Amino acid sequence: MLRLLLALVVVGVSASAVKAETVLDYDFFKRKVEPIFLKKRADHARCTVCHQQSNNAFRLEKLPDGAAFWNEEQSKKNFAVVSSLVVPGDPAQSRLLLQPLAPQAGGNAYHSGGWQFASKNDPDWKRLEAWVRGSKK
Ligand code: HEC
Repeated sequence: MLRLLLALVVVGVSASAVKAETVLDYDFFKRKVEPIFLKKRADHARCTVCHQQSNNAFRLEKLPDGAAFWNEEQSKKNFAVVSSLVVPGDPAQSRLLLQPLAPQAGGNAYHSGGWQFASKNDPDWKRLEAWVRGSKK
């Protein structure tokens, strides 16, 4: 019994150590997360339509006139802001993932921007989740 308890303690410690090490990857963010904010989803406006210079916590930089993507400095600012909306390693506590997800799929009850992701199987939702889990590719 004591041995079992010790084993459980060891497993618990290593699991939390892994979690603490989760680092959000900037390169992954730029290549795979930012494009999601620009993408048009059926029946929904792009995230950027409402979240560029918005007055809630999800505030993206304004795209330079005529530009299709943010410049490096802006992407770094976006990274900082968006990072504050997630708990690295813990998608279930990450506002970025819950706010635009349909409540039936475990998302938050209300988002003025709609239920952009009908389920956790949406490939873009999965990409956001992978980023929160510290994926680099
Ligand atoms: C039609 C406008 C609109 C669109 C499009 C939209 N949102 Fe929102 N979003 C809002 C508004 C307004 C709020 C603040 C009030 C609320 O939560 O409804 C908000 C809140 C949020 C929050 C919480 C911010 C906070 O202050 O805690 C997150 C995260 C978020 N949205 C993510 C997204 C993502 C990701 C997309 C695109 C997939 C998106 N939103 C698209 C309007 C929009």
